[in-house]
Amino acid sequence: MVAIHLPLILTAAAAQRHYSVIILGGGITGIIAARELHRGSISDFLIVDAQDSLGGRLRNVQVGGYTVEVGPNWIEGVHSDRGRTNPIYELAQKHGLRMVYNNWTDVAFYDQHGRNTKEFPKSFARAVKQKAVLVSSAGERIARGKVDLTARSGLRLSSQNVAQSQYDKASEYFTYDWEYGQRPDESSWIATSLNYNGTFDPVYGFGDSDLMCIDQEDRITSQTARLGFRKFIVKEAELFLQPPQILLNTIVKTIDYTDSGVSVFTRDGHKLTADHVLVTFSVGVLQYNDVVFHPPLPYWKREAVLSMRMATYTKIFLAFDRKWWDNSEMGLYADPHRRGYYPVWQSLDHERFLPGSHIYFVTVTGDESERIETMTDNEVKCEIMGVLRSMYPVVYIPEPTSIFFNRWFSDPLFRGSYSNWPASFYVEHMNNLRGSLAATVHFAGEATSGDYYGYMHGAYYEGEARGKAIAKCIVHDDCSDIPVGKDFDELNMKFTPSMTT
Ligand SMILES: Cc1cc2nc3c(=O)[nH]c(=O)nc-3n(C[C@H](O)[C@H](O)[C@H](O)COP(=O)(O)OP(=O)(O)OC[C@H]3O[C@@H](n4cnc5c(N)ncnc54)[C@H](O)[C@@H]3O)c2cc1C
Ligand SMILES: *[C@@H]1O[C@H](CO)[C@@H](O)[C@H](O)[C@H]1NC(C)=O
Ligand SMILES: *[C@@H]1O[C@H](CO)[C@@H](O)[C@H](O)[C@H]1NC(C)=O
Repeated sequence: MVAIHLPLILTAAAAQRHYSVIILGGGITGIIAARELHRGSISDFLIVDAQDSLGGRLRNVQVGGYTVEVGPNWIEGVHSDRGRTNPIYELAQKHGLRMVYNNWTDVAFYDQHGRNTKEFPKSFARAVKQKAVLVSSAGERIARGKVDLTARSGLRLSSQNVAQSQYDKASEYFTYDWEYGQRPDESSWIATSLNYNGTFDPVYGFGDSDLMCIDQEDRITSQTARLGFRKFIVKEAELFLQPPQILLNTIVKTIDYTDSGVSVFTRDGHKLTADHVLVTFSVGVLQYNDVVFHPPLPYWKREAVLSMRMATYTKIFLAFDRKWWDNSEMGLYADPHRRGYYPVWQSLDHERFLPGSHIYFVTVTGDESERIETMTDNEVKCEIMGVLRSMYPVVYIPEPTSIFFNRWFSDPLFRGSYSNWPASFYVEHMNNLRGSLAATVHFAGEATSGDYYGYMHGAYYEGEARGKAIAKCIVHDDCSDIPVGKDFDELNMKFTPSMTT
C-alpha cells in the first residue's frame, strides 16, 4: 500500500500533462469525487491541494502526547433502523476507527460562583424543548408556504423564548450556536431545521446520536504525520488513488476558463490544464478572492458565494499535569456578562475516552472565535484561567502545560470552519452556489449541500454527486446532471416595495 499521506512534490511530468479533470482540494469532497471518476473508468485526473496531506479540514495536532482533532470530531447522526446510515460512519467502520458515543446528558452546570444545580439545569431543560419546537414549527412553516425568518424570530414566535438570564443564554447557546457556529439571529430558521432533521431525525436522517473519534492507533507505530480521524478518508483514498494523481503542497492562485477548457496557475509558477475543473475550496476561500477567476465570476455566482456564511468553531485544548476537574463528560459555563464566553467544556480525560490524558477542552464559536484569533495564545490562556477559577472556586488549578487552538477564520485555505445558511439565503442561491461556469468549471463542497451543509456527510454526498455527473458527461457525453446556474433576471425572485404614505 502506498503511504499517500506523506508529502509529495510536483513532478515535471504532472505539470506538463493535460488532464480530463483537475480536482481542486483534497478534502472529503475532492477524494469522494475522485473515487467516482475512478469508478467511471476515468484515470487521467489530478487532485491538487495546498496542504502536505489529504483530508482537508480533518486535521489533528499532538497535545500532551495525544492526537486531538482540531477539525471535525464527531460523526453526527450515525445510523437509524428506521432511517438511514451516515456514509461517514460506513467509512469509519470499514477502516477500523476507534469511535465512542457521547452521553450528552452527562452535563455539569457552572456559573461565576461554581456549580449551579438549580436554576441553570431548569433553564437548560427548557432550551432543549424550545429547540425541538423550533424545528417542528419550521416544518409547519414549510407546509404552509411561509417565508423564512431568522432562527431568533423562530424561537420567539414558536415558544416565547426571550433568553434573558445568563442561564437561558448559555442554554440556548448550547442547543444552537454550538451546532451551527453562529447565533440564532445570524441563521435561517427553515434551513437549520431541515439540516437538523436531515441529520438527526430517526426517519429522515441518521438518528439522534453522535460518535466521537478518539483514534490513537498510530501513536506508537508512527513518529510523524498521525492519521487520527482523517484515517477513514486517507485509507479510502489509498484504495484507488495512484501517486501521480495527487499533487500536494501546491497553492492554486488563478483559474482561467473558457467553454473548451481550463488552465490552473499555481503560486510556484506552474500551469496545469484540463477539460474540466472541480473546485472544492470552502465558500470562505471563494469569498475572500484567495483564488482569482478569469474571466471574473459572473454576478449570479458572486451573489450566491457572498450570501452564504462561514461560521467558525474553535476547540481550545488544554493539557495539565493531572486531572483536577469534575468527572462529567461535559461542563456548561454561563458567564454573567457575555453570551458565548468559553461556554462548553469537554473532558477527554474520562474513563470512556482517553483516561490519563489530562486534557480538558473548551469551544468558542462565531464572533468569539474571530476575537480570540487576534489574541496571543497566552492572552487566551489568561482569560480561560479566569473562567476556570469561577467554575471551580475551591479547587487549586495548576497552569496548563500546553494550550492549542487552530485559527480557522484567519487561515486563507479555509476562512472559517463550515458554512451556515442565513435567513437571506434562498434555494435559488444554493442552486447558483453549485452551478457550473462555462460547462468546464464545477463546484462542490460541504457548502453546496442543500440538506447537509456544514457536515462531513454533506461534503461526501456533494463529492459523490459531482464526481458521478462529471464522469457521465465525459464518458457518455451526457452532461444533464451537472448543475447550471441562472442569472437572477431569469429567476422569479422579485422584491416589490409597495408602501402607503
Ligand atoms: C473546527 C471544525 C469542526 C467541525 N466539526 C464537524 C463535526 O464534528 N462533524 C462533521 O460532520 N463536520 C464537522 N466539520 C465540518 C467538516 O470538516 C467539513 O464539512 C468537511 O470536512 C468539508 O470537506 P470539503 O472537502 O468540502 O472541504 P475541505 O476539507 O476544506 O477541502 C478543501 C481543500 O482545499 C484546499 N485549498 C483551499 N484553498 C486552496 C488553494 N488556494 N490552493 C490549493 N488548495 C486549497 C484546502 O487545503 C482543503 O484541503 C467541522 C469543521 C471544522 C473546521
Ligand atoms: C449518561 O449520563 C447520565 C448523567 O450522568 C447518567 O445518568 C446516565 O446513566 C448516562 N447514560 C449512559 C448510557 O451512560
Ligand atoms: C422535522 O421532523 C419532525 C418530526 O419528524 C417534524 O415534526 C418537523 O416538521 C420536521 N421539520 C422540518 C423543518 O422538516
